[in-house]
Amino acid sequence: MADITLTIDDEPVTVPAETTILKAAEKLGRQVPTICYHEHCTANGLCRICVVEVDGVKPLLPACLSRVSEGMKVITSSARAERSRRTILEMLASAVDLSQAPEIQKFIDDYRADPARFPEAQRREYPVLDDNPMYIRDYSKCILCWRCVQVCADDAQFTYAINFKGRGFDTGIGTFFDKPMPETTCVFCGQCVGVCPTGALKSKRESLLEQGFSLDEIIQATRGGTKRRRKSP
Ligand code: SF4
Ligand code: FES
Repeated sequence: MADITLTIDDEPVTVPAETTILKAAEKLGRQVPTICYHEHCTANGLCRICVVEVDGVKPLLPACLSRVSEGMKVITSSARAERSRRTILEMLASAVDLSQAPEIQKFIDDYRADPARFPEAQRREYPVLDDNPMYIRDYSKCILCWRCVQVCADDAQFTYAINFKGRGFDTGIGTFFDKPMPETTCVFCGQCVGVCPTGALKSKRESLLEQGFSLDEIIQATRGGTKRRRKSP
């Protein structure tokens, strides 16, 4: 397929057709902020922090999803795009515990977002789910980026243990019929924990260490305190 030439912030760049605006911008060394996007997951355009302005196109376009086209003129940090990013960050901060999301915290600083802008907002608060020896789920910290669902499904593991549940404000991530993890198809590969950007999914050992438990207590809690024995020949 023919290459495409476009301009990004008035600088020309030539990339293969099908390249996303995000990747074309990266080729020029431009950093467009992303939250839900992950290098190894299918982009779904959920968070919209990566929106950019494209000449002649009315809505802001998500850079992680939108493909380049010949002659396209992209502005990565117009006042409108920056205001949109700031508002998204303010809405996230108003509803979700971002205390363990350093990348998002940095965006909040970079875009001078005010986490207290929506004081009346209802916060998404849920009890911590601790139902297996491997990891805990603290969905008060979940921004619904969908990365964990994707790696559990077609992007990596093909186990489909978790998915979206509910609608609107009550949308969340859960298991079939809210079964505890050991009763699902989960194989405890840890990939969901690895891609979670907010600490909503966390290794149980890390969580217990942070809470000040001793090594012995942590081993008890995560291995039941028993050593696996080899069968005698
Ligand atoms: S648990 Fe983590 S990875 Fe999964 S949707 Fe929530 S924030 Fe994203
Ligand atoms: S990073 Fe593009 S929509 Fe989330």
